[in-house]
Amino acid sequence: MTTSTTPVLGAAFLALAAGPALAEADLEAGRTIFTETAQPSCAVCHALSDAGSEAEIGPNLDQFKPTAAQVRAAVTSGIGVMPAFADMLTAGQIDTVAAYVAQVTGGAEGAAQPAMEGQTSSGAVAPATPD
Ligand code: HEC
Repeated sequence: MTTSTTPVLGAAFLALAAGPALAEADLEAGRTIFTETAQPSCAVCHALSDAGSEAEIGPNLDQFKPTAAQVRAAVTSGIGVMPAFADMLTAGQIDTVAAYVAQVTGGAEGAAQPAMEGQTSSGAVAPATPD
């Protein structure tokens, strides 16, 4: 028994630490899932200015400002007339689009921190400005 697992744990920690700062590549990937990959696409039903959509079947996401956890739940299981996407998108794609929607609408607190889902976010207003 040595400390041979330490490098693995270190890498995992770095991956987690890098999570909250959503890279531009992830935003682009999220936008693509929102407008193209999901079928029917989210943009068919939801207004989201970052994705250039103005659909009015579902809630306007710019106003709704969902957290990543809310998006993930709706996309995974469906809600009301919104279909579930669990069979169509991978868990990773759902996480990516959830983080994207939360980030671009300002509902980003809790985004990319799936392990913290149970934590209440009331009153914790994180500044959304990247710089
Ligand atoms: C067929 C139209 C349709 C599509 C496609 C669709 N939605 Fe929805 N969505 C809705 C409707 C309608 C609601 C409101 C459901 C309700 O509250 O009864 C909703 C609700 C939501 C909510 C709010 C959930 C909540 O907690 O109230 C989010 C977030 C959301 N959608 C994100 C997405 C994303 C992301 C996609 C693409 C993966 C998507 N939707 C695709 C119609 C759609």
